[in-house]
Amino acid sequence: VLAGSVAKPLSGRHILVTAGPTHEPIDPVRYIANRSSGKQGFAIAGALAALGARVSLVAGPVLLPTPAGVDRIDVESAQDMANAVAAALPADAAVMVAAVADWRAEDAAGQKIKKRPGEPPAPLRLVENVDILATLARSPRRPALLIGFAAETEQIVAHATAKRARKGADWIVANDVSGDVMGGDANTVHVVTADGVESWELLPKNQVAARLADRIAATLG
Ligand code: CTP
Ligand code: CA
Repeated sequence: VLAGSVAKPLSGRHILVTAGPTHEPIDPVRYIANRSSGKQGFAIAGALAALGARVSLVAGPVLLPTPAGVDRIDVESAQDMANAVAAALPADAAVMVAAVADWRAEDAAGQKIKKRPGEPPAPLRLVENVDILATLARSPRRPALLIGFAAETEQIVAHATAKRARKGADWIVANDVSGDVMGGDANTVHVVTADGVESWELLPKNQVAARLADRIAATLG
């Protein structure tokens, strides 16, 4: 190590991060989406790159600058995100921060649906999107460390613990979104692992990211 150089515990590692919402088209001008700013996922991608990792950031539609040293792949829909995740493998770890839309319109209209006064369109039929995290957990190319996020408004740790088991993730980072977390700059998170639950104090999103990146580095060794 050269004198004065900074230790890079994640150099040589490839880490996949998903972030932001997905947009599911209803017609060419309308979509279904989740409320997600992408800030926490982008901060995590940047923190991992700062520790020396090669980071593939699969980003839903957000207007955020790409963090330094991060390879960004922009996507729109959940299906696009699933394809981009598969194409970015293999990875040593994956951090799935994206707020993926759970459903999409069964038949997106090819042309703009026109407003007819007093005649709203037929109810939208929704179908379930692929669960990117659960699919990755069952894949032969599952990263050694697989981390999911869970935005909850109540029973945060209980829901996150159930989600961890259901999805086959190693850790679930649960955050309380009952306040103004969405789009805000701070986050209260609970890290649910096989060893139990670690609750962190309210922290700026970049400090949540730095702490999580350190924990990932320590775990990958
Ligand atoms: N996730 C995913 N693909 C989906 C839905 C969710 O990869 N189609 C990932 C998210 O990126 C997150 C984790 O799964 O890391 C949990 O997402 P969440 O929406 O909290 O879980 P769901 O199982 O969809 O449960 P619900 O929305 O009912 O709380
Ligand atoms: Ca969901």
